[in-house]
Order: sequence, then structure tokens, then C-alpha cells
Amino acid sequence: MKFDFATPVERRHPSRHGQAADWPSQKWHRHDDDVLPLWVADMDFRSPPAVIEALEARIAHGVFGYGEVPDSLREALCAWSGEHYDWAIAPEWQHWLPGVVPALHLASLAFTAPGDGILTVTPIYPPFLSVAERTGRRAQTAPLAEPEVPGEPWRLDLDALEAAITPETRLLLWCQPHNPTGRAWSSEELNGLAALVERHDLLVVSDELHCDLLLDEGARHRPLAAQFPALARRIITLWAPSKTFNLAGLTAACAVIPDASLRRRFAAAAKGLMPDANVLGLVAAEAAYTQGEPWRQALLATLRGHRVRLAEAVAGWPGVTMSAPQSTYLAWLDLRRSGLGESPQRVLLEEARVALSDGADFGWPGFVRLNFGTTRSQLDEALSRLDRVLAQ
Ligand SMILES: Cc1ncc(COP(=O)(O)O)c(C=O)c1O
Repeated sequence: MKFDFATPVERRHPSRHGQAADWPSQKWHRHDDDVLPLWVADMDFRSPPAVIEALEARIAHGVFGYGEVPDSLREALCAWSGEHYDWAIAPEWQHWLPGVVPALHLASLAFTAPGDGILTVTPIYPPFLSVAERTGRRAQTAPLAEPEVPGEPWRLDLDALEAAITPETRLLLWCQPHNPTGRAWSSEELNGLAALVERHDLLVVSDELHCDLLLDEGARHRPLAAQFPALARRIITLWAPSKTFNLAGLTAACAVIPDASLRRRFAAAAKGLMPDANVLGLVAAEAAYTQGEPWRQALLATLRGHRVRLAEAVAGWPGVTMSAPQSTYLAWLDLRRSGLGESPQRVLLEEARVALSDGADFGWPGFVRLNFGTTRSQLDEALSRLDRVLAQ
């Protein structure tokens, strides 16, 4: 089956029945009209046709009262997990909720006390850095090891991670594959991490939101809890169809919690605070997990091509380096030697009219994150604008 990842979809000024419609998207509305946005992590592609059809059918029903998570969705996720990650999960381990970021905060409330330490690595997806402060806990961070040779992968620095741990540390906020470096961690790194988690008696929230977007041919995701069954009782795994199938605005995500007591504590913390999952999000999730695979394969082929195109462009930018992302549509670029000063993101926004994410928000100033989940023509246009500033 053929899917269209090439035709740009109007997201800045969409029309409805021939009239200009007001459906602001964060990505396309934050900056001036002449700016190309390659920042926030959503893609410019329409979701799989099967998902759109399932939503149309649900909308035609016309009643949108409180929904319940259907058994068929729980089973769809069990089947997806078994087939794609070799992890047999039970339907009752699933706690559906409206987002992964809310789940990070909920885990802090459910499993830690005021003053406890919440640990994470940097660079990291920015909300990880705010969870502790927002919930009255103590933020603890350890840097990843940056590549010694430009272009080599970023690595987990276990010594730095261990050094950041104190007797107050309770919870590790972990991200695999990793946003923003795109790393899919090696077994060696994860073995070290697992030993450390056990040694320090930590709980782990494993945010695996990008796990269906491993880009290398034949690469397979192994959830942390599946790779280390002895640790599964300490791990809350977070998944969602939102990145893979471009459904972030429909707010449906799932915490997979094998341990019954952790599950109860998580559910208790959610009460009164967390809205039920969005009925349309649940419909979309089930359609995506049951019928979205051919679309996902076609998406991966598109993203692989974009990754090559981006690497060629970066090779022509003196003082800019990138480790090829092993997953997702996000690239992490080092511009500390580009001559653009302390805030390259701002210079590129002003001079190239391309909006990227600022590395400072991820804990590493001098870097930018570039979202290549867009059409080839929009990517080409953005790269040629960046060329004008960087290729000299
Ligand atoms: C690693 C990671 N976690 C969480 C999120 C946000 O998830 P949600 O929209 O479900 O809160 C993102 C979005 O980019 C992400 O990259």
C-alpha cells in the first residue's frame, strides 16, 4: 500500500469548507509566518488512513460522554508488545491516561515523598528536568558522555550517574530510546544501569515513547522491564501511539506497571487529578496498534531517507556535528564550534528563519534539536536556509 509522506499538509492556515479555519498547532503558530518550524516533536504527516477512518466512524456516532478503556484496546497493546518487543504483558498492567508527561509527574507524587531525589541524565527532554521541582522533590542530574570523536554516539556515563545518587534518591526518570540524542542504548550500558538500579534500590520510570521508531534496518526494541525481568517490579514503562502515528493532540498514553502494589499507588495518585483518557485518543490508539503497521514501515523508510539527507547537509557545515540518530525523527546537533555564539538556536531562528529546539532547555546550551519528521520538500527548504548561515 502506498502512503503519502511527500505532499505538504497546510498546518499554519488550514481551511474548512473553503474558509480559513482556526486550528492552531503549537509547531506552526509559535513563530512568524515566514519561519519553518522544525522544533516540537510532532510530524507534519497525516496519521494512518486506518486511524482516520476509525475516528470518522466514532465521530459519526456523535455521542462523546465519558469513555472507558475497552478490553479490545488493552488486548491490542498486549499483542503489539508481544509481536514487536517480545514482552508478554497482561491487560490489567495497563493504566491509560492522557499523556506521558502527566505520567512522569504522577509517578513522582505516587512513589516519592517531599525532599526525595529524582534522578535523570542530561541532555534530556525538558519536562524531565522540571518534574522534581514541580512536585516538591529534589532534582538530581548526571551528564551523558558526549562523543570523543564527533559523530560517534553519545554514551551512558555510569560513573557520573552513580556519583549523582544520594541516600535521598528514590526514582530514576529514564528515556529509551533517548530524546534528544536518538540513542538506543546498548546491552552493556543497560546491564550497568540495571545493576546500579538494584544496588541503590531505585524505582524507574522508563519513558519508551519513541520505541517504535528505531531507524536502523532490523533493529528491535527491548523494553527495560523485559530485558531485566528481575527488575520489572521496580519499573513503570510509558508508551503511547502519539509519536509513532502522529497523534499527540489526541492525548492517549499508557503506563505499563507489572507490580500490583505500584499499580495501586499510581492509580490512587491519579484520582481526582488525572482526567480520563480522551475517547477519540483511545479509538485512534486501537486502530493504530491493530492496523497501523504498514504505515509505520513506510514512515520508517521515509525517515531513514531524511536522516541521510540531513547527515549530508550537516557534513557541509563547518564546526557542526551530529551523531546519527538511531531512532525517531529528532537530531541533536552540536554547534558549540559553529561560531554562532552562545545561543545558536536564536541566531538560526533570526537569520535562517528556521525554528529549532534550544539545547539549553535540555540542559546543554550550544546544541539544537532538529525535527526531521516533515516532508522532503520542507526539509530541503529548511536545510537550504540553514546552509546559507552555516555552510561558510
Ligand atoms: C521522551 C518524551 N516523553 C514524553 C513526551 C510527551 O508526551 P505526552 O505528549 O504524551 O505528554 C515527548 C514528546 O516529545 C517525548 O519526546
